[in-house]
Amino acid sequence: MFVYILTFLLSLVLYTLYKLIINDNKNIRKSSRKAILPPGSMGWPYIGETIQLYSQDPNFFFSTRQRRYGEIFKTRILGYPCIMLASPEAARFVLVSQAQLFKPTYPKSKENLIGPSALFFHQGDYHENIRKLVKRSLSPDTIRNLVPEIESSALSLINSWSDGAPINTYQQMKKYSFEVGILSIFGQLEVHLKEELYKNYSILNQGYNSFPTNLPGTSYRSALKARKRMVQILGEILKERENMQIENNLLSGFLNLKDKDNRSLILDEEQIIDNIIGVLFAAQDTTASVITWILKYLHDYPKLLEAVMAEQKTIQKSKDKEDCLLTWKHTRNMPITYKVMLETLRMATIISFTFREAVTDVEYKGFLIPKGWKVMPLFRNIHHNPEFFTDPQKFDPSRFEVAPKPNTFMPFGSGVHSCPGNALAKQEILVMVHHLVTKFRWEVLGSQSGIQYGPFPVPIQGLPARFWKESSI
Ligand code: HEM
Repeated sequence: MFVYILTFLLSLVLYTLYKLIINDNKNIRKSSRKAILPPGSMGWPYIGETIQLYSQDPNFFFSTRQRRYGEIFKTRILGYPCIMLASPEAARFVLVSQAQLFKPTYPKSKENLIGPSALFFHQGDYHENIRKLVKRSLSPDTIRNLVPEIESSALSLINSWSDGAPINTYQQMKKYSFEVGILSIFGQLEVHLKEELYKNYSILNQGYNSFPTNLPGTSYRSALKARKRMVQILGEILKERENMQIENNLLSGFLNLKDKDNRSLILDEEQIIDNIIGVLFAAQDTTASVITWILKYLHDYPKLLEAVMAEQKTIQKSKDKEDCLLTWKHTRNMPITYKVMLETLRMATIISFTFREAVTDVEYKGFLIPKGWKVMPLFRNIHHNPEFFTDPQKFDPSRFEVAPKPNTFMPFGSGVHSCPGNALAKQEILVMVHHLVTKFRWEVLGSQSGIQYGPFPVPIQGLPARFWKESSI
């Protein structure tokens, strides 16, 4: 009898469990059946809408689809199914509140050039530990001590220009942002090492932006070789610095990395080198492109240039009186220039979008984002949406007298992968603008309009221009 009762009870428990599981599964199936793919066109088999994206202004590609389909739409680019998201809430969902459901994703060919251990390819503990260190090394507290060196890099570059000789503004600014990147990583570094790193990094960067075929004579093959030479140079620098006293720079941080419980974490040489190349990569074209755009906008809006110049000349006079160089405090007191910088970051939106990949099926506002699909928050569309920025095509720094609505202004991204270099970038931009407007006048050569994507948007041909020292006018 007892056995019958036990069997009956056991069956009851098993049946209840079975019903629960079935119901659960039904619910899951029901919710994913309810969630539908967003609207949009997947284009041709495999190539999707790649040709449309790369044969026209990408702004046009994104904005026409946003108008047609709304804030979330699907497409296929370079063989990958993608979901594009053009609203602040959706960007926040992917980058901040549900960031664990989306991992960073880059083509393998690009990852191999930067180095697979660079922090922006990772998630979880490894990413968190490296990111904390990078953030600390690039924090305002650390940067304020770098101002004299940043200033000296700016001065040495602009003093090398011959009066009135044409220069490619973007290429010149790339030299400057590379130099500042090196400064934040190594502190002081011998000139011949800097030059070798610059030469090889420039080849690597060219290959990064080329078609990734590893055949003799291609830019991609040259870039892989340049990377090998960089690894060798960086390896020698590491050996030299290994036994040096702890300094306040990124390399020293990599050599003395601790986890959240203050336990030493040993990074191997490859991890350190990949992260150094990663930071150089993240720091150079971005900042150079923003400075180039600022110079273009100041050239196009003479009244604004006058206002920025007046602000900077007041600072120059005050430091002449105090007989001092530009200080951190001076750069905190540049409200007009600061707003010009913010408006440039909005208008030009150097990083138009970023890529993530869904690690599981995700539902957002009734739409399904399937596992494995690429997800792209479109910063540019958000920055150019009239709902958040009135008359968005107008360059108007005064709009930043009022703080933008939350999550509508993300030139440095948002969430766990947001830019740890933003304070350094702003600092070097302000220092360069101070010296250019107080010492030089400039004229843009050739076409005055047009944008080139390489891949960051820059004024056409890198803004060829002539600069004159004010004293010689
Ligand atoms: C105006 C110049 C810059 C702009 C507009 C910019 C923008 C961005 C954006 C949008 C991201 C996030 C990308 C994503 O979510 O996928 C990012 C990440 C990053 N940036 Fe910047 N950046 C600039 C300058 C710099 C500088 C000067 C450095 C370093 C010296 C730097 C280092 C990094 C690093 C290491 C990451 C990856 C962070 C992570 O994955 O946790 N950036 N940047």
